[in-house]
Amino acid sequence: MGVLDAFDKEQKEAALNATLVVFMADEAGRQQVIQALRQLNISDAYVAVGTINDLIDHLGKMERSPERLIVDISGLDKPLDALDQLADACDPSVTVYTVGEKNDVTLYRLLLQAGITDYRYKPLTVDALRLWLDDRDGYSVRQARSGKIIAVAGARGGVGATSVAGQLARELSAGGALRKVVFIDMDVFGGAGTTLMGMQSNHAMPEVLDSVANLDAQFLARVLTTTDDRMYTLGFNNAFDQPFQPEPGAVAAMLTALSQQFHYLVVDLPHAGGMVANEVYSRANFACLVSDTSVHAGRVLASLIGHVRGYGHDTVVHVVLNAVRPPVKAQVDPREFTKAVGHPVTVAIPYDGKFPALAEDLGEGMAKESQMAKAVARLARTLTGEVVDDDAGKGWIRRLFKRAA
Ligand SMILES: Nc1ncnc2c1ncn2[C@@H]1O[C@H](COP(=O)(O)OP(=O)(O)OP(=O)(O)O)[C@@H](O)[C@H]1O
Ligand SMILES: [Mg+2]
Repeated sequence: MGVLDAFDKEQKEAALNATLVVFMADEAGRQQVIQALRQLNISDAYVAVGTINDLIDHLGKMERSPERLIVDISGLDKPLDALDQLADACDPSVTVYTVGEKNDVTLYRLLLQAGITDYRYKPLTVDALRLWLDDRDGYSVRQARSGKIIAVAGARGGVGATSVAGQLARELSAGGALRKVVFIDMDVFGGAGTTLMGMQSNHAMPEVLDSVANLDAQFLARVLTTTDDRMYTLGFNNAFDQPFQPEPGAVAAMLTALSQQFHYLVVDLPHAGGMVANEVYSRANFACLVSDTSVHAGRVLASLIGHVRGYGHDTVVHVVLNAVRPPVKAQVDPREFTKAVGHPVTVAIPYDGKFPALAEDLGEGMAKESQMAKAVARLARTLTGEVVDDDAGKGWIRRLFKRAA
């Protein structure tokens, strides 16, 4: 049996659980890769001919996520757009390499900014493959991708933090057909979050915290709650005499592990301060701080912004103004509020009548005409990078694969 025949036989086994998946544009490219992998003694690979769309289809069939992908972008009109779809289709932890026909510095730079680990023009040599596949600890891990962690906290109780967090999770999930989003309710005694997401509250948090080293897709599917394999919830349901005392660092470690499995993690914080909130801030890419326009909330918010920023991680703060009651005094102009707290307001949500309460009781997303739904949709697009100041349009570059924004 020839080298290629033997390889083809292995392919049947590797197709659904290989750690390396390669999609080349043509048979010649495929055979070059097979020969190179042989020379490198790598057998745990699946090598096929196909486009990025074929690769996305294939990923949907795989039993577990591969660790690395190599995809040929030759001949694609809009490689960044196609890769954008691929981003949503594979777990954030997957390392992606690209090959193509062009020796083009601009394309190379855009791909790297977009979170692609490397780009080579063809033919893909043994040396190039060795560099990609051997030096995992140095080169690739440094560039590891991860999902975005979004902390949501209120400047005071009852300002709508949970409503904003829930709707935000829904918007993020709706924004990409293959995106995986987890809504994490940090209320130890079972907050309103899971009801609002239309799911049964679960008590998965203790188990997840105990299993941080082994959080794979199967485990998460078992302990978290999901109705569609895209939106998941994770929470507590402690009895009132059962306080939550995690080991220092446990919550941060859990978020890091989950960020390898989900594209977006929306963390609803019942308290804006304390150890749990601080560990969440220490890992958060974004903190959405929800406030009303009261003098008290304004004061708390000003110091909370400083606190979140001081946590060492490059957390981007978004101030969300929300009116949970009809205005009793003249509406405060967001610009005035901005001046008072010393930070711009990303979105201002007006009093929205029955919509938020209905959404919570029914466990459904907010109606389209809801003001909160519209404002939170804008917030979601700001976080994903789809709403931008320049005219570059929606881009992978500002999205998922970039580490901290
Ligand atoms: N813009 C709005 N218009 C009308 N009602 C709102 C608005 N935002 C939130 N609400 C309602 O206000 C109530 C409090 O909202 P929510 O539970 O989201 O606040 P919270 O900040 O999470 O509160 P807690 O401090 O208890 O966690 C809910 O009944 C919600 O439906
Ligand atoms: Mg809440």
